[in-house]
Amino acid sequence: MADFTNEIKKRRTFAIISHPDAGKTTLTEKFLLYGGAINLAGSVKGKATARHAVSDWMEIEKERGISVTSSVLQFNYDGYCINILDTPGHQDFSEDTYRTLMAADSAVMVIDASKGVEAQTRKLFKVCAMRHIPIFTFINKLDRDANDTFELLDDIEKELGIPTCPVNWPIGSGKAFRGVYDRNTRKVLTFSDTMKGTKEGVIEEVDVDDDSRMSEIMTEDQKEQLLEEIELLDGASAEFDLDEVSCGKLSPVFFGSALTNFGVETFLQHFLKMTTSPLPRTADCGEIDPMKEDFSAFVFKIQANMNKAHRDRIAFMRICSGKFDAGMEVYHVQGDKKMRLSQPQQMMAQDRHIVDEAYAGDIIGVFDPGIFSIGDTVCVPGKKFAYEGIPTFAPEHFARVRLLDSMKRKQFVKGVNQIAQEGAIQIFQEYMGGMEEIIVGVVGVLQFDVLKYRLENEYNVEIRLENLPYEHIRWIANKEEVDVAKLTGTSDMKKVKDMRGNPLLLFVNSWSVGMTLDRNKNLKLEEFSKN
Ligand code: G4P
Repeated sequence: MADFTNEIKKRRTFAIISHPDAGKTTLTEKFLLYGGAINLAGSVKGKATARHAVSDWMEIEKERGISVTSSVLQFNYDGYCINILDTPGHQDFSEDTYRTLMAADSAVMVIDASKGVEAQTRKLFKVCAMRHIPIFTFINKLDRDANDTFELLDDIEKELGIPTCPVNWPIGSGKAFRGVYDRNTRKVLTFSDTMKGTKEGVIEEVDVDDDSRMSEIMTEDQKEQLLEEIELLDGASAEFDLDEVSCGKLSPVFFGSALTNFGVETFLQHFLKMTTSPLPRTADCGEIDPMKEDFSAFVFKIQANMNKAHRDRIAFMRICSGKFDAGMEVYHVQGDKKMRLSQPQQMMAQDRHIVDEAYAGDIIGVFDPGIFSIGDTVCVPGKKFAYEGIPTFAPEHFARVRLLDSMKRKQFVKGVNQIAQEGAIQIFQEYMGGMEEIIVGVVGVLQFDVLKYRLENEYNVEIRLENLPYEHIRWIANKEEVDVAKLTGTSDMKKVKDMRGNPLLLFVNSWSVGMTLDRNKNLKLEEFSKN
């Protein structure tokens, strides 16, 4: 059994979270460059295609094609085997983006130094925080004019509620950017903007106490400011504490410029050292140790094939323990069936290939004839346990679905239910009503197009979607203690129930959420549903 523990110890599996345009793709490219997975920073994904405004189906399919091939990138660096999980953004943002975070052991948060914390970062951060995974911050684009460094850190602490600990500190920004000061080594790494695209740029290390050399690389004002800031920082910022980092209570912060390749390798090296190999995961029988147990995995994402002729799907699994061998017999716990996982695939840089073996920490995509659901567990025959489920995330857009031909009610209900089961949409009904009135909720608006297209093409049902103004949804955490029918909220509040009959409240704005809580003192609301 011990033969696979070394492989698992090498694994680092993380997601990069950011708001679009903060530099996630560029940073990923640079990581791949250091890993030798690409020669020159090439394109990780077809960015030109990915950025199109999407409305017609061909585009959606193209987008999905892209997200399949870039779902996870694996490469080796300095003895580590790194899995980077892609968190689709832009129009592709959906519940899958959140679910992907369930498969990560840590997250890298990229922030644009001239913008600070932005909307999508905030959403993704919340999900990471819920899991208490370590979060590392890379403040990017220092080669452009940036916000004040203290303000940037303040913004993270206030907006996200996580204390920060800068590992290095920038000297100037934009045209005046001179490099970063490493608080540990007390050395300045000098920036030269001649490094675009390659990893060959020369970075000099200058001792902060080497006064004459310091004066050559920066202005006297910059020097003075740096020394002042170091003093302030040493007095004021949170002390570095790896235990706090490991449980997501402190975020180490790094500064750099992904485009010019500055600060990226230092960041990667620190990050790899500060993170751990895959840790035990909780199942219904207790914690499952990745090194000691045989193969087990859970499904975190299902990608439907958009081609009508092929109703197959790809189920993405995160391996949580042991070693996977292609062709091995496994046990699908929820389906209570022994099976072989067919066509297991993995992505290596840009190429998809069939895997022969994979280890805890790795992600594999397997052909799914329609048997897996999100959150399912597979393990070796003879074992029977289920990993903790994946929460249902709050949809952010809602629409009422109108069936155009009422004769097709049966196909409609079947189609909507199946698509909801795959996790692409969530369906709700009026709190007191039945399936005659259906409200769909999605995390990304693209999912509305997907629903309409798939109902037409796969179920031969035409629908009309009427957008609803709700933007906030809350599950009632203490539904046993609350009489939902009697609940009084704001005038814009709507009561609905999900497919399992759980009561929920829809609100147009966040103010109404607060108001409703004020009016109903015993009411407890939550943004994720764990059941
Ligand atoms: P994303 O995946 O987070 O959406 O961001 P992406 O890496 O695509 O970067 C968004 C834009 O920001 C790109 O410019 C990219 O070149 C630029 N960028 C990324 N990192 C840095 C940095 O450190 N400094 C500067 N100055 N720019 C950076 P674009 O013009 O939109 O695209 P492209 O034509 O350069 O590809």
